[in-house]
Amino acid sequence: QLVRRIDRPVVLVGMMGVGKSSVGKRLGAMLHWPFVDADDEIEASARMTIPEIFATFGEEYFRDGERRVISRLLSDDKRKRTVIATGGGAFCNEATRELILERALAVWLDSDVDTLVERTARKDNRPLLRDGNPREILSRLRDERTPHYSLAPVHVVSASGPHTQTVNRVLQGIA
Ligand code: S3P
Repeated sequence: QLVRRIDRPVVLVGMMGVGKSSVGKRLGAMLHWPFVDADDEIEASARMTIPEIFATFGEEYFRDGERRVISRLLSDDKRKRTVIATGGGAFCNEATRELILERALAVWLDSDVDTLVERTARKDNRPLLRDGNPREILSRLRDERTPHYSLAPVHVVSASGPHTQTVNRVLQGIA
């Protein structure tokens, strides 16, 4: 019944390490909707990893590719009922944000800085965290980006620990 009412992709936005991919996968499974990770799509279409794209072409080029990939995902009529996880900066790019707000239901997942630090420490695949102290960078980016993220119509707090509760909160938020 819930699934019948939503006929737009559900797009998860929020900081690196907040759990967009993990929550997105579980949410897709609950809704019986496919899950797509926009970062994976960018890597597949560029045939490069995200750190390679940043190192070779820079962030601006990455943002442009990110917008194109998200635009393609949101234009596909066969993907109306899809859960999409975006990279942390996607919703802070004006053009990308406008696309998402127009064609999808955006859900902002938010965590405190401690949780972001803990979760991002598990993988070394984030170029923006490589040039300094990750806690300081995450804290600054979270402050800078919160005004953008808060434009998403649904807000959910992603607590540390298992994602089950967060998934349930998202389901309530989009119902
Ligand atoms: C970025 C977040 C990353 C990835 C890229 C840039 C950001 O995605 O898109 O490293 O600007 O916050 P995750 O949020 O999935 O880590």
